[in-house]
Amino acid sequence: MQNNTFLTLFVGQSLVKLSETNSTNDYLKKLLSNFKPLTEGTVIMADHQSAGRGQQNNVWEAEKGKNLTISILLNPTFLSLNQQFYLNKVVSLGINDCLRTIVCDDCKIKWPNDIYHKNQKIGGVLIENIVAGNYIKNSIIGIGINVNQQNFSHLAGNATSLVKILRKDYELNDLLRQLCKSIESRYLQAKAKHFERLDSDYLGRLFGLNEVHNYLIGDEIVQGKVVGVSAIGLLLLQINDEVKEFDLKQVKLMLD
Ligand code: BTN
Repeated sequence: MQNNTFLTLFVGQSLVKLSETNSTNDYLKKLLSNFKPLTEGTVIMADHQSAGRGQQNNVWEAEKGKNLTISILLNPTFLSLNQQFYLNKVVSLGINDCLRTIVCDDCKIKWPNDIYHKNQKIGGVLIENIVAGNYIKNSIIGIGINVNQQNFSHLAGNATSLVKILRKDYELNDLLRQLCKSIESRYLQAKAKHFERLDSDYLGRLFGLNEVHNYLIGDEIVQGKVVGVSAIGLLLLQINDEVKEFDLKQVKLMLD
């Protein structure tokens, strides 16, 4: 573990850099289960993950040494369980803020927390919470950002990376520093209960808001329009004249 000159209060102040691990989320979970308490804001960063995990049991692919694959420990005990979607908002807005300063304003959040540049995915988030009673004791925030990788397999879908957008490599440590700062700022907004600000910024950056797109629902493709997100984080999709709520397993945006 090393101390860093990060311009943050706590996120990234304690940083564990690994050349290889199965998954930074799993590594952090294991550290948490050890006897010694871990400081909030601890970051695990790996050059390579042999079993990187994505949402819905997908594999997260990232070429060795070319991308940011990290996990951050947060202890959002100020959030009750029915407020847990604020963590998704905090993290996706933090990543979005950071990437907007690097690539311009074309970055959006595809519900619930995929990070998109135009029509392509540049980053993803896997949040795993440890719950105690009615609140979240610990949250493991896994973040993957495609940085200096040029080629992606078909498994990565319509992926892009910073190098593909900027046409030059981006220093991973600089990105980490910027990211820790922007995530911490958004986290402090949540801690200060500035929920309206998080709600309106999240909505304002939501991919496909008020636009008609094709969605796969069950085995049917239907046209729908995202009109918002519910308090517990369900997608509000208007189909014909009716607004319906969907969770991640029930709906998939179909892009050309
Ligand atoms: C997604 O499916 O979009 C979420 C991807 C999350 C990937 C990151 S990489 C670092 C952390 N460790 C993991 O095993 N997964 C997350």
